[in-house]
Amino acid sequence: MCGIVGGIAERNLVPILLEGLKRLEYRGYDSSGVAVLDSENTIQRVRALGKIKSLEAKIAEAEHPLSGQIGIAHTRWATHGVPAENNAHPHICNNQVAVVHNGIIENYQSLKKHQLTEGYRFTSDTDTEVVAHCVHEQLKSSQTLLEAVQKAITHFEGAYALGVVSVEYPNTLIAARKGSPLVIGVGIGEHFIASDVSALLPVTQSFIFLEEGDVAEITRESVNVYDVNGHQVAREIKQSSLTMHSVDLGEHRHYMHKEIFEQPQAVIDTLEGRITQNHMLVSAFGHDAEAIFQTVRQVQIIACGTSYHAGLVAKYWFEDIIGLPCQVEVASEYRYRNPVLLDHTLFVTISQSGETADTLAALQQIKALKGDKTIATLSICNVPESSLTRESDLTFLTHAGPEIGVASTKAFTTQLVALSLLVTALGKALHLMSETQERKIIHGLQKLPGLLQKALTHENDIKAIAQGFADKESALFLGRGTMYPIAMEGALKLKEISYIHAEAYPAGELKHGPLALIDEHIPVIAIAPHDDLLEKLKSNLQEVKARGGQMIVFEDEQADVDSQGNMKVVKATTNVGRITAPITFNVPLQLLSYHVALIKGTDVDQPRNLAKSVTVE
Ligand code: AGP
Repeated sequence: MCGIVGGIAERNLVPILLEGLKRLEYRGYDSSGVAVLDSENTIQRVRALGKIKSLEAKIAEAEHPLSGQIGIAHTRWATHGVPAENNAHPHICNNQVAVVHNGIIENYQSLKKHQLTEGYRFTSDTDTEVVAHCVHEQLKSSQTLLEAVQKAITHFEGAYALGVVSVEYPNTLIAARKGSPLVIGVGIGEHFIASDVSALLPVTQSFIFLEEGDVAEITRESVNVYDVNGHQVAREIKQSSLTMHSVDLGEHRHYMHKEIFEQPQAVIDTLEGRITQNHMLVSAFGHDAEAIFQTVRQVQIIACGTSYHAGLVAKYWFEDIIGLPCQVEVASEYRYRNPVLLDHTLFVTISQSGETADTLAALQQIKALKGDKTIATLSICNVPESSLTRESDLTFLTHAGPEIGVASTKAFTTQLVALSLLVTALGKALHLMSETQERKIIHGLQKLPGLLQKALTHENDIKAIAQGFADKESALFLGRGTMYPIAMEGALKLKEISYIHAEAYPAGELKHGPLALIDEHIPVIAIAPHDDLLEKLKSNLQEVKARGGQMIVFEDEQADVDSQGNMKVVKATTNVGRITAPITFNVPLQLLSYHVALIKGTDVDQPRNLAKSVTVE
């Protein structure tokens, strides 16, 4: 999704803005731009289609070097208007006001109609241009740029994070947020804004996280924040534990590869302080959790994409291990139907970013509908201070570290760790789990980093298998039980980064339709753990084999799947338990997608049309 960077300083901001944009590249974008007020107090803007390096090249080629001590910059992910230079931000009104925007102004057409009658001219097809015109219009009757922006935003419906500068107020940068994230980076004699902290790590580690409806008036010396009612409020300055090197690539060619290999450590970090050496869970969900958990009679999980798949795995665990009913639904469906909220439900939202618009909206809907029912909300999230964590009763932070690759890998693994701890915590609070079971689960989780490490050693085998994939147009992933959502996750990874169409099926459903697809052109990937369903799965594999399907099976060493003929078998792991099995078997599927994408030469970390953090619906 779009990324914003801005700042006001005593030094030339252009290199800082460009570095910030590069650090936001992972969010996904199709064009970019930067605007500064130069020494003559004129707005200078450069925009380019494509990668940031095109923008840098244009800036380098410019007749006059681009330089300014106040400025805003943007990476655009098209929603309204095709990716094109004229649609790239910043948008400027009458050479007076420049804005960058993340989100969607839903009523932009009616605003545009009015602005056309007022004589404003439009040069783009975006919803954002109305923001620049609206601020310009409000400036006519305002004493400050802050006042103009505060008045302008009362006209907007939808979501926005905004950065605004004006030639009339060359020492003020305005930031505003509603529904889209925005942070302020606090420096000495200089301040910055950005969509997330990673953009500003080279210049500061001190941040103010703006809240819903906040507007900030930022100068070199001060930051004044006003809440949704226009009252000045104090927002705490927080220190980020991230450093500028936490988001470096290191020896890896892609962030996705780095993040796949970081999974053992991410599990260790997520478990730290939450379990004891003698295999017991300690308070992992906060002080209020136990009392809340004792009231729970069912769990409803809501999430999108990979996070949704983590929820699907957990459904098996909740019902199978502690007998607690659990429903799972994608947020974009949940938020737009009229769900019946059951008393004594724990609503769990799962999100890497904590800013996914649909998941956030579903959470807000639950809070609005809950009335006097005993309902609590818990978010499982990787980003501290994200919107989701701020709006939930309880939060569990996965400590996966920054995930830059658009394809979610280590976040998924740590979400599953978090969910397994949640099953344990609810099992204990509701007396649905014995101490022996608790020790078994925690002991299994302690062995997980080692199991993941071992699964990663199969990279070369998987690389070789990937060679047979690059020319394929379609693939089928099969699993049973918790391996079905893992198959779904494998299919999502493959289509996301290699653009090969992939579908996942519960293996038992094959004969109800998908078997018709099977021939020698479609690879079938199956996951074969050593569990109660193994023999049934083997029969399903025979059905595929008999029809000439090209099979790749990731099996437990003890599963002993017959590897003759058109069946390639990788002994991916051994001795995995009910909880650790799906987490471990996911690793070879991640590596398979990665190596297929490498062979196909796609943009692994920033696949076409996708964004890391989906902050619009
Ligand atoms: C997964 O690889 C995705 N890029 C995507 O499905 C992602 O999981 C989804 O958009 C949800 O994001 P979130 O976890 O940040 O809410």
